Amino acid sequence: MLDSTAKAGERPVTALPPPYTALHRHPLLPEPTHDDTARMNFLINLVSHVGAKLAPGMPAVYRKRVQPAFAKAQGRDFATTSEVREAMRGDPVYQSWAALRRLAQEMRHQAGRQMVFRQIDELNARAARLNDGAPTLKLDPTVQVPKYIAVDNHLSPGGYETETTANDIAAGACYECGHFVTAGGGTGGKSDWPGLTIATFVKTAFPQFQPKRIVDIGAGGGFNVLPIAQMYPDAEVIAVDVAAPMLRYGHARAQALGIKNVTFLQADGETLDLPSGSVDWIQTTMVWHETAVTPFRAMLRQIKSLLRPGGLSLNFEQPNFDPDTPMFEKFIRDWDAWYNNEPFWAKLHTMNFRDEMIRAGFDPARVIEEWAPQVREQGSYPSWVQTVNRHDAEHDLADARKAPRKVEGKKGMYLFGAWKELSC
Ligand SMILES: C[S@@+](CC[C@H](N)C(=O)[O-])C[C@H]1O[C@@H](n2cnc3c(N)ncnc32)[C@H](O)[C@@H]1O
Repeated sequence: MLDSTAKAGERPVTALPPPYTALHRHPLLPEPTHDDTARMNFLINLVSHVGAKLAPGMPAVYRKRVQPAFAKAQGRDFATTSEVREAMRGDPVYQSWAALRRLAQEMRHQAGRQMVFRQIDELNARAARLNDGAPTLKLDPTVQVPKYIAVDNHLSPGGYETETTANDIAAGACYECGHFVTAGGGTGGKSDWPGLTIATFVKTAFPQFQPKRIVDIGAGGGFNVLPIAQMYPDAEVIAVDVAAPMLRYGHARAQALGIKNVTFLQADGETLDLPSGSVDWIQTTMVWHETAVTPFRAMLRQIKSLLRPGGLSLNFEQPNFDPDTPMFEKFIRDWDAWYNNEPFWAKLHTMNFRDEMIRAGFDPARVIEEWAPQVREQGSYPSWVQTVNRHDAEHDLADARKAPRKVEGKKGMYLFGAWKELSC
C-alpha cells in the first residue's frame, strides 16, 4: 500500500514497514511470543518513523536556525563538527530526534535480549546439535579479543564476544533479531542485502574470476558471507571472527539453511594462520568502522600478503569524507560515534581508503572503488529500504557528490579494494 500523503517529487513509501515476522525463520532464531512480536513491530515502526519522517527535518534545523545563530554570535561559520554538535545540542527539534533514535536503539537491544535469554538454553542446545563435532566450526579459546572490539558496540550489551553460558550463541541471536529492527526491515528477511549485492557484483563485473578460496574477515554471524558462498558453491569459504558466540550461531544457522561450503574459524584477522598467497578473494563487510587505525592498517597489509597474485581484496564500508563534504553531512554521519557507541566511526570517515590500499602495498593502478547496484532478495520491501535505511541515505548523499567525479553514472553500494598484481 502506498502512502497517499506523499507530496509530488517525494519518493513514495509503503504505509507500514515490514513486520518482524518477515524475518526468515530458522531453528536458531528465538521464537517470539505475541507480545515480543508486538514490541518488535512497534520498534520497527518507531525506527522507520524517526528515519523517514523526523530525520529529513534535521538539515532544515541546521540551515534555518542553528547555523545562522552560530554565525550571528561568532561572526563566522562552523569550523569543526564538534562546534556543530555543541550548537545542535541546544535545539529542541534535534533533541527530540536524537533522543528517539538513541532510545529506539536501546529498546531494540532490550527487546531482543529479553526474547533470546528467555529461551537461551533451548537455543544453545539446538545450535550444539548442529555444531558439535562439525569440522566446519573451528573454535580456539586461546584467541584474545582485541581491546577495540571488546566494547558494547552500537550499544549492544556485552558486544560480540561475551559468553554467559556454555556453548553460548546469545550474541549472534541478539544481533540477528535486533539488526532487523534497526534497519527497519531494510536488509531483507535474511539480513543479507550487502552480501547479495557483493556476490552479484563480483559475479557480474568479473565473470572470468573463479575464486577457489574465499576468506571473509569479521564475518560475525555469517549473514553476508552466505550469499557469496552460495554464488560460488565450489569455493572453500572461510568465515573468520574473534567472537565465539557469533561463530557458533553463524555455523549452526548456515547448517540449518543448508549451506555447507563455509568453515567458521575463530581467529584474529590481524594474525591469520594461512599460507601467504593462498587466498583468491578476501572480503570484509562492515568491519573497519569497528576497528582502529593500527589494526586496520595491519589487516590490510596481511590481506595483501595472503592473496594470491591476481586475487581480490574487497571491502564494504561507508565512504570516506571528501575535502568538499559539507559540514552538516559530516556531523550527521559522525553521529553514531558519539551517541551509538561506535568509537572508530568518526575517525574512519576522515581516512582515505584509496590511500590506505596503496599504503598496504597494493599497486595504485589496481586499486578499485565501485558503486555496486543494490540487490535484495525477492519479497523484501524496496520502497521502505530506500526510505528508512540511514546507511542507504548516507550512501545516497555521498553518491550524489562523488558519482560525477569518481565513477560516472553509477549508483548503489560503495565498495573499495584492490586486485593484487599478477607477478610479485
Ligand atoms: C559489524 S560486525 C559485521 C559482521 C559481518 N561482516 C556481517 O556483515 O554481518 C563486525 C564483526 O567483526 C569482528 N571483528 C572485529 N575485529 C576483528 C578482528 N581483528 N578479527 C576478526 N574479527 C573481527 C567482530 O567480532 C564482529 O563480529
